[in-house]
Amino acid sequence: MAPPHERHITIAPSLLAADFGRLREEVAAIEAAGADWLHLDVMDGHFAPNISFGPVVLAALRKYTELPFDVHLMIEPVDPYIQAFADAGADHISFHPEACAHPHRSLQLIRSLGKKAGLVLNPGTPPESIAWMLDLTDIVLVMSVNPGFGGQQFLPSQLPKIAALRGMIDASGRAIALAVDGGITPATAPAVLQAGADTLIAGTAVFGAPDYAGAIAALRPA
Ligand code: DX5
Ligand code: ZN
Repeated sequence: MAPPHERHITIAPSLLAADFGRLREEVAAIEAAGADWLHLDVMDGHFAPNISFGPVVLAALRKYTELPFDVHLMIEPVDPYIQAFADAGADHISFHPEACAHPHRSLQLIRSLGKKAGLVLNPGTPPESIAWMLDLTDIVLVMSVNPGFGGQQFLPSQLPKIAALRGMIDASGRAIALAVDGGITPATAPAVLQAGADTLIAGTAVFGAPDYAGAIAALRPA
């Protein structure tokens, strides 16, 4: 794999850290600032200890941006809601295999709707747990905090897991994005990219900054 500064790094700001009273303007501003994807954190107060928003909010924003909607479901169960998020304008639907009995089937369902399918791993979930589902996976997302809240501290324990997943993805020969979510800042991003990630999800470090374009640029390799 090429070193970080020679790879294309995808930056996906998380809407969770935006001003919820001005979502339409926030989405337009982040697109103008050079974001690649818009990351949408869906929490149900059951799988994740917080409640955020659902498909109605996606559908409302869909007409105001061309950015791919990268939906991160932190909900349980998963399958009954996949169609609703697809209809609301999701381009990628990622979910936690910890939240469903048959993640392989959930991947099939997402793919059958023409969407990219992603698996999200909690900090305690081993990389090997998804080894036999990579043929159905477009995105692997490593949580570097526990799901539920923005602004938490990055967990360095996840760096070897990112490296292990990089090896698994490369060995598969498949075009699978390797994303990292939680506590991503200009200080933590270099180690994450060095470990083999190609996609950075950042809430506070982007929407919490005064200059969104500068904040996005600061996450990219020098
Ligand atoms: C946490 C979410 C993250 C969160 C990241 O449950 O999945 O996407 O918004 O926020 P920061 O970048 O502030 O850690
Ligand atoms: Zn997320």
